[in-house]
Amino acid sequence: METQLVERPATRTVDALYERVKSVIPAMEWGTFADDIEAILRLKREKNAVILAHNYQTPEIFHCVADVTGDSLALAREAQNVEADVIVMAGVAFMAETAKILNPAKKVLIPDMGAGCSLADSITAADVRKMREAYPGVPVVTYVNTSAEVKAESDICCTSGNAKRLIEKLGVPRVIMIPDEFLAQNIARETGVEMITWQGHCEVHERFTPEEIRHWRAAHPGLVVLAHPECPPEVVAEADFSGSTAHMSDYVSQAGGEKVLLVTECSMSDNLAASHPDVEFVRPCNLCPHMKKITLRSIRHALETMSVEVKVDPAVSERARQAIERMLAV
Ligand code: 13P
Ligand code: SF4
Repeated sequence: METQLVERPATRTVDALYERVKSVIPAMEWGTFADDIEAILRLKREKNAVILAHNYQTPEIFHCVADVTGDSLALAREAQNVEADVIVMAGVAFMAETAKILNPAKKVLIPDMGAGCSLADSITAADVRKMREAYPGVPVVTYVNTSAEVKAESDICCTSGNAKRLIEKLGVPRVIMIPDEFLAQNIARETGVEMITWQGHCEVHERFTPEEIRHWRAAHPGLVVLAHPECPPEVVAEADFSGSTAHMSDYVSQAGGEKVLLVTECSMSDNLAASHPDVEFVRPCNLCPHMKKITLRSIRHALETMSVEVKVDPAVSERARQAIERMLAV
């Protein structure tokens, strides 16, 4: 009996994409991603959709299907400029909400509604109202890692990428800075502004300790340590540089270093390792369980079913938008 060989094209587009991530994704694992990547690329064209991906997304998302990548600030800025009909947020719920608030006419999808954030979950709109009552006249600066309702009670939003600049611009001696206690303490130290804080913490960054950083430095002479400002101040004090995920990425691109420790969520090291083969990343792996809810499979499902669509109450959205736009204007 004659057998028929079904010929597969030598190189599918998707296989060419493997070049971008081959240093961080084993070939065996790539086989499990290729079909989903191919489907997502096709669905994006069919549905006129773009994928915005945070720096903590895994490399097969970050390098192979995302149209825009960056920190929370960059994603908020880009959300304002999107021309496509559909935005898929490969990130957590507050990022998708921010995109929707800035782009109410677009369909914004989040592949998993359960992708929350320990900071966003730590505070409610009623908590903010109580703080205002306790400190009348003190401006409320709210980290973007919050719900739309909390943003709506705020004077201005900030991200880790612009908090210092924004606090300096406010030019006041005291602010209510919520909900990240450590970010507020780190920015207080940089600016000298008094901070009234809330006891919210990022469950990923609060786990790092100064002892751990000293251990890695002793094990790797010459190590360059970059820490996210959601880390406790005593951890940031051990670092050579502190900044948002985008600032850390820029630091690696410009200043480099043979060995780098990113004191932040661990997919960020994979993403930078894929594009900086000359740099060795020392990797204690603290994963964000919320960010990791977003997978190629869930992105594909979101595009196939056009769900889950993010909705924000228009009255809340309007007030939250003002706080976000004040931030973007700075
Ligand atoms: P940035 O990317 O804005 O630095 O934020 C980090 C973070 O934890 C977002 O969830
Ligand atoms: Fe929230 Fe921390 Fe996860 Fe960022 S890394 S989404 S701040 S829990």
